[in-house]
Amino acid sequence: MRRLAPLAALALLAACAGAPNREPTLYEQLGGRDGIAAITDHLLDAFARDPRVAPTFDHVDIRRFRRYFADYLCQTADGPCRYTGDPMSEVHRGMHIDEAMFNAVVQDLIIAMDREHVPVRVQNRLLARLAPQRKDIIYH
Ligand code: HEM
Repeated sequence: MRRLAPLAALALLAACAGAPNREPTLYEQLGGRDGIAAITDHLLDAFARDPRVAPTFDHVDIRRFRRYFADYLCQTADGPCRYTGDPMSEVHRGMHIDEAMFNAVVQDLIIAMDREHVPVRVQNRLLARLAPQRKDIIYH
């Protein structure tokens, strides 16, 4: 009986050694589907309070935006979702989005992630993936 304990410990060690020791995906770091849904809700809150952004969303179907935006974040963060909306350049065409508006949306996203207690290191990982979209969103 006394011999079983060290044996069990050895078996546990062997199991741990075999376990994949990978870094969590960005999706996981953002809190998965629930975390991304919460970030999207905080973002919509921040938009409503932000006079630089709010007028652009005056006539937008918010339920649709909420679903598509969350899918977009999820896919961008290597999560198990597929964004089925149009490319960024099509979605934002004719909105006359300038750099100030783009920066405002980025600031609001940071506010939303702060509210969800997303660590700054993780925030930066997401922002780095969104930054290249800038050229497809402004001045279209
Ligand atoms: C990194 C920056 C941005 C990303 C990743 C992004 C992403 C998206 C996504 C995924 C959608 C939903 C598309 C769909 O419904 O098919 C959307 C819609 C929209 N975006 Fe952006 N966006 C960004 C910046 C901006 C900025 C700067 C503005 C203007 C202030 C803006 C205004 C809008 C509006 C008004 C809609 C709703 C369009 C509609 O339903 O007619 N977005 N965006």
